[in-house]
Order: sequence, then structure tokens, then C-alpha cells
Amino acid sequence: MYESFYNLACPPFQNTPNPRFFFETEQHREALAKLEYTVRNRRGFALVTGEIGSGKTTLVRTLIRRLGNDARVALVNNTRVSAEQLLRLICQELGVEEALNHRDKASVVAHIRRFVEHQAGVGRNVVIVIDEGQCLSIDEFEELRLLTNLESDTEKLLQLLILGQPELRDTLRHARLAPLIQRICMYCHLQPMSFNDTTRYIAFRLVRASHGRPDVDFSREALNVIHQYTKGVPRLVNLCCDNALLVGYSNDTRLIDSSIVRRALAQMMPNFDGQMTDIVDELPSGQEIDDGRRL
Ligand SMILES: Nc1ncnc2c1ncn2[C@@H]1O[C@H](COP(=O)(O)OP(=O)(O)O)[C@@H](O)[C@H]1O
Ligand SMILES: [Mg+2]
Repeated sequence: MYESFYNLACPPFQNTPNPRFFFETEQHREALAKLEYTVRNRRGFALVTGEIGSGKTTLVRTLIRRLGNDARVALVNNTRVSAEQLLRLICQELGVEEALNHRDKASVVAHIRRFVEHQAGVGRNVVIVIDEGQCLSIDEFEELRLLTNLESDTEKLLQLLILGQPELRDTLRHARLAPLIQRICMYCHLQPMSFNDTTRYIAFRLVRASHGRPDVDFSREALNVIHQYTKGVPRLVNLCCDNALLVGYSNDTRLIDSSIVRRALAQMMPNFDGQMTDIVDELPSGQEIDDGRRL
């Protein structure tokens, strides 16, 4: 809507895990490198945790794009399924259709084994990515452990990457999962971005979305407010910046200052529950905001 006003080719702050917009903070870069290492060197099992919106899905989408034709990937997003369904979903994603004709677990796993051995033979890695892993039950984790047993004398034939919210770590502490935990070869936790990273993130996404030179500026104070309220969580930064651009556009200004950001934030109340009273207090009294309410 506001793209041409700011000389942008597309919306810069869409909340989609698009690898084209992947911004490498130091920790995102390191996590990506570790995941890629795990897969390419067939190390077996990697775990990534992070709060909602911290960038887990974007990270793994970027990895999958990087691996390209070097890997066959099963990406499982739907983790609210039974252990048996999980195995079938993985077969579907990998394209091991024959396995789906069998009901007994041993036959299904035998088909998966044949598939991964064949792929290893042609130099390709097989990766299972479980997103939203915090929804998995102990039974499902045990099912996944069976798959991590697929190995040759020297390496793991199947790479397992599990991503999830921090509570995932509590599930993994269960005694029954000790054998699985011992297999984790890399673990990282995505932290929210620092102020400097948030600033660079915003600039990066604007340039990515532009024809080369976005026609918009964020004041230092505006960036301070954005970081203060989003705490550097990428999903919230996107939401906040998208709204701020909209407020700027509707006020015919290309300078996003702190008052514009505060007005944008005031329209996003549910996302910042409990932090908003001061925002509302700081707005000039009687100020008209875009939805017509008076504060
Ligand atoms: N490193 C990053 N570079 C660019 N955008 C990111 C990055 N991390 C997160 N985002 C943005 O934030 C949004 C939320 O990230 P997402 O990967 O869905 O988080 P999670 O899976 O941890 O809930 C994404 O849609 C994406 O637009
Ligand atoms: Mg996600």
C-alpha cells in the first residue's frame, strides 16, 4: 500500500519466513553455520530453541534453501499428531510412498532405511526438520530416536533438526529421553536482537525491499522506542515497523520519528499488553489517531 511512497518494490516487514530477507546477526549466522555443518558432516541431531518470533523457522528455511539439491528434506510443521502419524508424515514429506502401504512400524522404518541408504549412495543427505517441537510428546521423541539409529559404521545416515520454543527443553529432560539427549551434537538458543542488530535489521530489510535506495529514515529515538517495546524480537519488530510505515504514509512523511512509532504501537495494543500505559501517556493529549479514537 505504502511501497511506492517510500520507493520500495515490495513490503519490507512481512511476517513470513522468507530466506530472501534473512538477516545474519552474529547468532543467526553461527546457528546457520552449525546447522549446515551438522547436515553436511552427518553428525546426527541438532536442537534449536527460541521464543516465539525469534527466527527459528526463518533460519531453517534459509538452511533448506542453502542445501538445495544436496539434501532431501522432510519439513514437519504439524506436531500435534500421534507418534504413528508423525512417522507417516515424515514418509510423505520424503516421498517414501511405499512405506505408507504398511501398518507395522518395522516395515515403515525398513523402507526409510532403504531410502536413506540409497540417498547416501548418491551423495545426498537426508534431513528431517521438526518445527514447533515443543508440541511433541515423549512417545514421538522416542519414535524420532529410532530414526536416529539409522547409521553406517562411520556416520549418521539421517540428520534430525528439531526447533521449538524454550519449554521444549523441559520435555527433553524426561528420563526416557536420556538416550536421545546424548545424541545432540549441536544446540543453540536464539536470543532477541540487541539494539544495534535491530537497527541493522531494519535497514537491511528496507534495502532488500527497495529498488536500491529506500526513501525513508528512522530517527535514532524512533529506533530506541522500537527496540524498547519489541525487545528485539524480529516478528514484533516487523509488526511495529510495518505499522510505523503506514502511519508515516498516512501523514505524508518519510521521516519515521518516535511519535510516529508510538502511534503505531498504540494501534498494536494486544501485542504489547502490559507495556502500553506509558505509550498512551506519552502521546500528545487529544491526538487523533488513524482509527479515529482519541487518546
Ligand atoms: N534472521 C532473520 N532475518 C530476517 N527476518 C527474520 C529473521 N528472523 C526472524 N525474521 C522475521 O521474523 C518473523 C518471525 O520469525 P520466525 O522465523 O517465524 O520465528 P519463530 O519460528 O522463532 O517463531 C519471520 O516471519 C521473519 O520475517
Ligand atoms: Mg516458527
